[in-house]
Amino acid sequence: METTRWTLDDIIQMTLDVGEDWAVAHAERLLVLIDQISPDTPYDFRVMEFAAYLHDWGAFPRYIQKDVEHARRSRQVVEEEILPHLDLTPAQKGILLEAIELHDYRDQRSVQSNEALLLREADMLEFLGMIGMAREFARGPRNVEVCYRRILSRSDQIQGRFTIPSAQQIARVRFERMEQCLVWLEEEGFGAL
Ligand SMILES: [Fe+2]
Ligand SMILES: [Fe+2]
Repeated sequence: METTRWTLDDIIQMTLDVGEDWAVAHAERLLVLIDQISPDTPYDFRVMEFAAYLHDWGAFPRYIQKDVEHARRSRQVVEEEILPHLDLTPAQKGILLEAIELHDYRDQRSVQSNEALLLREADMLEFLGMIGMAREFARGPRNVEVCYRRILSRSDQIQGRFTIPSAQQIARVRFERMEQCLVWLEEEGFGAL
């Protein structure tokens, strides 16, 4: 029996169907960031598009597994359910899986492909700046202090992790913005966030 081929539009629709609202907008922003940070880092655009939409599927309620880290889980899901339907070469498929599995900033393993590097550094930028803070508050819980503490701990972990010069530049601006916003937040929190 012939395997059905899925296009990027199919994958986007499936991301909307099986995922949560945040994932498609997050992927769209990632692709813009990847474009911005890649002047000296060539990459395969098709692979990158699939990676942007698929990398967090392991965090969706439908696929999440408590004892499996979400990036590894995304790789499992993509390898089993998606990859056979994508019109990519074996080499492209290998790069896609690597980029997905290694995308999380907590993963200290080094990456082989430019695609994996770009996805990881763009995804780190998504935790910074106003957009990073907005994502943390949107993620909940409905407790400002808990979200605030998560913002601080994530930015501590991400600081110093960027290796691409243009990503470092964007990160610098985003860290400055966060610092200012957090000063305002603390000031308006009157010590009792
Ligand atoms: Fe992720
Ligand atoms: Fe992500």
